[in-house]
Amino acid sequence: MPAGKLHVLKQLDLSRLPTHIAIIMDGNGRWATKRGLPRNLGHKAGCENLKRIITHIYDLGIKYATFFTFSTENWKRPQEEIDGIFNIVRDYLDEDAEEFLRRGAKVVVSGDYTRLPPDLVKSINNIIEKTKDCDRFTLNLAINYGGRDEILRAVNEAIKQGKPISNPAEFSKLLYSSDLPDPDFIIRTSGEMRVSNFMLWQMAYSEFYFTKTYWPAFSERELQLALIDFQKRKRRFGSI
Ligand code: IPE
Ligand code: IPE
Ligand code: MG
Repeated sequence: MPAGKLHVLKQLDLSRLPTHIAIIMDGNGRWATKRGLPRNLGHKAGCENLKRIITHIYDLGIKYATFFTFSTENWKRPQEEIDGIFNIVRDYLDEDAEEFLRRGAKVVVSGDYTRLPPDLVKSINNIIEKTKDCDRFTLNLAINYGGRDEILRAVNEAIKQGKPISNPAEFSKLLYSSDLPDPDFIIRTSGEMRVSNFMLWQMAYSEFYFTKTYWPAFSERELQLALIDFQKRKRRFGSI
């Protein structure tokens, strides 16, 4: 995440940003196909964009960001595509580990990443360990992540502990994202109007933003436009 040069649209109020933004990065495959390229080049371009957008989120001063990188259902894809995605993520983490540390950015993971290939598990463990004391920004990568899987694990953990859960906050503590606040704002690219098993528990009061733009083409400017839209919402949380 190299330092970005910050241009802020004048309608954007930097004092009212979401604390936690989450992004369902969809449309890499279609972005590539539209250009006559193999799908994995779409994932490569998607990863380049991930870097750009993480840097921008960090520069804007947002504290937490979650990116949906690989779902528990994405194992249904051809093995070659899966391997390609994992290699791209591994190289990214290896190349940027020092930069995260330098910028005080902590990397955490939602999802059972121990099921991933050993080289990727090693890269993930390395970056988690290296950045564990960083506190300026938290990047949460949802990888081998599914909301239902996460809830089932939490329920089983509660059963194991043998005591009833008395409130939602207690249940949240059993989730992968126990150290993060719930996402205030969730963006999904590529025009699909669904959540595809993402943060089912945490999204109870999230604001949503859907855009037709494919993930590799989702720009810093479009992120700012989405944030301006977020700032127009009145969040009521059940009140009036
Ligand atoms: C999102 O892009 C990345 C992952 C799910 C890993 P897709 O690969 O789903 O792209 P489309 O939806 O097929 O265009
Ligand atoms: C959601 O996208 C998962 C990620 C972005 C990692 P998908 O492309 O897997 O979702 P569906 O299959 O269109 O619902
Ligand atoms: Mg998709």
